[in-house]
Amino acid sequence: MKKFFLLIVVASIFFNASAQKFDLAKTPPMGWNSWNKFACNVSEKLIMEMADAMVNSGMKAAGYEYIVIDDCWQVARDENGEIIADKDRFPHGIKYLADYVHSKGLKFGIYSCAGTKTCQERPGGRGHEFQDARTYARWGVDYLKYDWCNASTQDAKASYSTMRDGLYAAGRPIVFSLCEWGTAKPWEWAKEVGHLWRTTGDIVDRWDAMIAILDLERDLAKYAGPGHWNDPDMLEVGNGGMTMEEYKTHFSLWCMLAAPLMAGNDLQNMSQENKEILTNTEIIALDQDPLGKQGFCTRDNGDYEIWIKKLANNEKAACLLNRGDDEKDVQVDFNVLLKASDNYWASDQYKLEDYKVRDLWEHKDLKLDKNTMLIKMPPHSVKVFRFIKK
Ligand code: GLA
Repeated sequence: MKKFFLLIVVASIFFNASAQKFDLAKTPPMGWNSWNKFACNVSEKLIMEMADAMVNSGMKAAGYEYIVIDDCWQVARDENGEIIADKDRFPHGIKYLADYVHSKGLKFGIYSCAGTKTCQERPGGRGHEFQDARTYARWGVDYLKYDWCNASTQDAKASYSTMRDGLYAAGRPIVFSLCEWGTAKPWEWAKEVGHLWRTTGDIVDRWDAMIAILDLERDLAKYAGPGHWNDPDMLEVGNGGMTMEEYKTHFSLWCMLAAPLMAGNDLQNMSQENKEILTNTEIIALDQDPLGKQGFCTRDNGDYEIWIKKLANNEKAACLLNRGDDEKDVQVDFNVLLKASDNYWASDQYKLEDYKVRDLWEHKDLKLDKNTMLIKMPPHSVKVFRFIKK
């Protein structure tokens, strides 16, 4: 009888744990994170302002949800091992901030690290996983980004699994974002551990750095799906290191990749152009499509590539990419684009006459009198089309 009771308890813990994980991040998480723009310059005031700006700028309405404080909010542990927030920068404590973010109808995220110290040498989570998870749950944390600095010879899967167990035991649904930079190939094991995992080192706000990340995502499409996403790192849109054309490309590619969309710019001071990029709901809809398929590259002609993303309801998106430094004229055959598939035998079901084709940056349906079209593509630009069922 005792054994039976134990079995029920264990089974119910397991069942709750899986249910918790799988009910979260059904589509790639969207939000804002402090690191790319503000680095260690975080404070209660800044985070509150960003939460306000998230609402006032239209970002919330476009689907952005999580406000995440990255590194540097923490300074020490007390005699009981409890993590302590910087009192000068966060005078009312983290729970107060979480409550404020929640009062705006948003969710609240925080950062820690699987090693003994964070990347900025603040106290890490190693050895305190269950305690920290309980603290985060008490504060009302909804999202945890967990880094990989100062992890010495720790095993990545074991370390991240310990924190996952801590989060499950704490009982609050918390999106678990692994930031292990792809070193131990998390796409092969992290589906059971967290909801998203970084696949590369840190993004830099430059064209070549951004496009280099794209190249590392090429073979990872099959590992992503609802509740478990490849994370090519946060967005740099609006931080000033790329042209508007390049930011449009960056944003479009991240959406084609079903990447988590964590804006990393100053939401209070956004140019109209940057706002239009980050809140292009037609492009965002590709990222957030419920089928949850990551896009794949179907044509690689050196500087010219075509990426395809399968969408729910047998719809598809196609992204033409000019990676080159020169303008290009490309002849596009929409019939070929629509039928492009990572599975040759599945392509027959798509008939162009069943679809209209929409340009998602021009916000216009194309008037096609034949299947082909000559398109001029500026350097570093994209064209993104959606095949929409008639
Ligand atoms: C690592 C992560 C970054 C950021 C910094 C903070 O470099 O990959 O995204 O969180 O640490 O120190």
